[in-house]
Amino acid sequence: MKANMSYASTRCRSFFVFPILFAVVLLSLLIPSSADKRHVINFRSPGLYPEGLTWDPRDQHFLVGSLHSRTIHSVSDAGVIETLISDLDLPENATILGLAVDSTNRRLLACIHSSPPLPPFSALAAYDLRSGGRRVFLSPLPSFPGDDEGIARDVANDVAVDFKGNAYVTNSAKNFIWKVDRDGAASIFSRSPLFNSQPVAADADASFRDCGLNGIVYISKGYLLVVQSNTGKVFKVDEESGNARLVLLNGDLIAADGMARRRRDGTIMVVSQKKLWLLKSQDSWSEGVVYDEIDLDLEGFPTAVTVAERDRIYVLYGRVMEGIMGSYKEEGPREWFGIEEVWSEKEGGEDKIWLYVLIGFGFAYFCFWRFQMKKLITNMDKKIT
Ligand SMILES: *[C@@H]1O[C@H](CO)[C@@H](O)[C@H](O)[C@H]1NC(C)=O
Repeated sequence: MKANMSYASTRCRSFFVFPILFAVVLLSLLIPSSADKRHVINFRSPGLYPEGLTWDPRDQHFLVGSLHSRTIHSVSDAGVIETLISDLDLPENATILGLAVDSTNRRLLACIHSSPPLPPFSALAAYDLRSGGRRVFLSPLPSFPGDDEGIARDVANDVAVDFKGNAYVTNSAKNFIWKVDRDGAASIFSRSPLFNSQPVAADADASFRDCGLNGIVYISKGYLLVVQSNTGKVFKVDEESGNARLVLLNGDLIAADGMARRRRDGTIMVVSQKKLWLLKSQDSWSEGVVYDEIDLDLEGFPTAVTVAERDRIYVLYGRVMEGIMGSYKEEGPREWFGIEEVWSEKEGGEDKIWLYVLIGFGFAYFCFWRFQMKKLITNMDKKIT
């Protein structure tokens, strides 16, 4: 009898322990989703006005370029900024545009561009991240033969890299793509007529009317995706042939700039000064759907997007236009810039549905368990009496 009694009381204690445990688990699930604030990083670097942003997964920091100082900097989660590269061989006042990390070769690739009134200069630079940023190559990018840089100059705008270390660079002024191999040999890779076939958006203003191919990402299945600012179109470009196809979308990404890809589910992010678009495709980008549009801070002039730790999406608020126009007040160039996490409510919503299902399931299980427990105790009582 005594043994049975203590058995019953242990079970009775666990009768209370279980719901408490369940509540703790539930709370730990609920709290992060409601209290976890968007991650905002502010960093100080007077006059930097960065345009390019990428994430280095190995060293766990962001990388940003400078508008005029020929430098590339790392920015930590906590906003600690350090100068990683200072390359005085670049032409004076040249701008660092798109950035990409080549993880295979542990290199950083950077688009270099000199804007008027500086002499024309378009190049791709590669820096060795293992040796603290030693330059591997600085490859000038060839103009199209016969094109003497007449009216518009080439603009090496953004870069993507494949697993072998080949870089693909968009020329946003002339609508073609360069390729630079891992030894630095540069050539014109894709000049698809499709890049000039789409109508420029009716509401394109001077800030992007002449800006064509821009953000670019490499997809492991042998192709690239590239977005065109002034038409809002996305193209799928074959990695071998350079042939392009128009990706059918449920909307135009007008004034699109940087682009990034989330490995986990292949989601593509495209940023503009006004918003961030999230795109998905079921058929390797013959067709795609814009499934969310997130408003961004227009004043911050976002130009680039990247995916960092735990698949978090970040945009760069580099206020580049202010730097270009010199439109700052008497207090001089701006000192503070930002990298901010962006959340999709749509995705958050999905998570929450899962949470409700989980809670419902837990509750049902709890009721069932309680019912069993009641039966057990009733049986026990019968035995004892
Ligand atoms: C670079 O910029 C500085 C500051 O605006 C200017 O004084 C200098 O003349 C520029 N250099 C060139 C080569 O244009």
